[in-house]
Amino acid sequence: MSRILGIETSCDETGVAVVEDGRHILANKLASQASEHALFGGVVPEIASRRHTEVISQLTGEVLAECGDNIDAVAATYGPGLMGSLLVGVNFAKAFAYARKLPYVPVHHLEGHVFSVFLTDEPPAFPFLTLIVSGGHTCLVACRKPHEYELLGATRDDAVGESFDKVARLLELPYPGGPSIQKAAESGDPEAFMFPRGMGSDDSLDFSYSGLKTAVLYALRQENGWNVADIAASFQAAAIDLLLIKVKRALKETRLPALVAAGGVAANRLLRERLTAEIGEPVHVPPLSLCVDNGAMIAAAGASRWAHGYTAGLSSSACATIPLT
Ligand code: KG4
Ligand code: ZN
Repeated sequence: MSRILGIETSCDETGVAVVEDGRHILANKLASQASEHALFGGVVPEIASRRHTEVISQLTGEVLAECGDNIDAVAATYGPGLMGSLLVGVNFAKAFAYARKLPYVPVHHLEGHVFSVFLTDEPPAFPFLTLIVSGGHTCLVACRKPHEYELLGATRDDAVGESFDKVARLLELPYPGGPSIQKAAESGDPEAFMFPRGMGSDDSLDFSYSGLKTAVLYALRQENGWNVADIAASFQAAAIDLLLIKVKRALKETRLPALVAAGGVAANRLLRERLTAEIGEPVHVPPLSLCVDNGAMIAAAGASRWAHGYTAGLSSSACATIPLT
């Protein structure tokens, strides 16, 4: 039996959790800074790292008070993400590990998203295909064995979550853009505008989202008295359609037997509905609270890394940009 403390501070959420055996959440707390960054229309890195510093000790104390403080190892996101924010979590985790003579396990943020699926009631067995869709990443990864990944395709420019955030700004909807656009789209016509599906007809498994954002900008310039709901619905339809096109192609090409969707954009209702309705293979999508950044997914990935013997010394640091593969 293992009990892993997981710490996530790569962006604007401070996440702390304890997970047992990589499968069961014993305590999971999140301090979101979204409302503060919303004032600026996006994440302000300096504010993000300061807030992590202010709340991380207390949040950890609350988590340990809830589930008891016998911990076997400490895992933290070491990258990719905002350097100042990552350093808060990494240094806190290392200090905690040093003080209690515990192993320290660095975890790649995207591996955390992949492992969020093992916190669900019916996780997939390896191998499977993972669609990782977040504010910073859009990629398709073949997960053949634990900790062995093959990058099949990725965005050439903006991430899909980033395009939701940028288009929300154009539409003067609040940050974070994903939930705002989803809400606005509820009363809109997804066929009102035919926005491009960037790289949708090309043979690769790569994505492009910058053209979609520009198309929305041009539509706004041309329209007089534009209807926010119609633009949001048409944008969302195009953004999600491109994900479906590439997922279907990847499953066909790789013949992987199951699909996992993870990351903040996997909270999107249209994406979840379309994956369930249109993909023949079993589809695994974590609940909304585990799609957005959280400490439990880092603890789950850390548990598996620890079991496979991956630990690091206290001289290991954070890394703002680092590929999963
Ligand atoms: O995984 P995440 O919490 O942080 C990163 O690793 O980036 O993802 C955040 C992203 C943001 O771009 C946010 O707008 C998007 O996920 N997002 C959504 C939804 N909820 C969050 N995008 C579309 N629909 C949603 N319901
Ligand atoms: Zn994330």
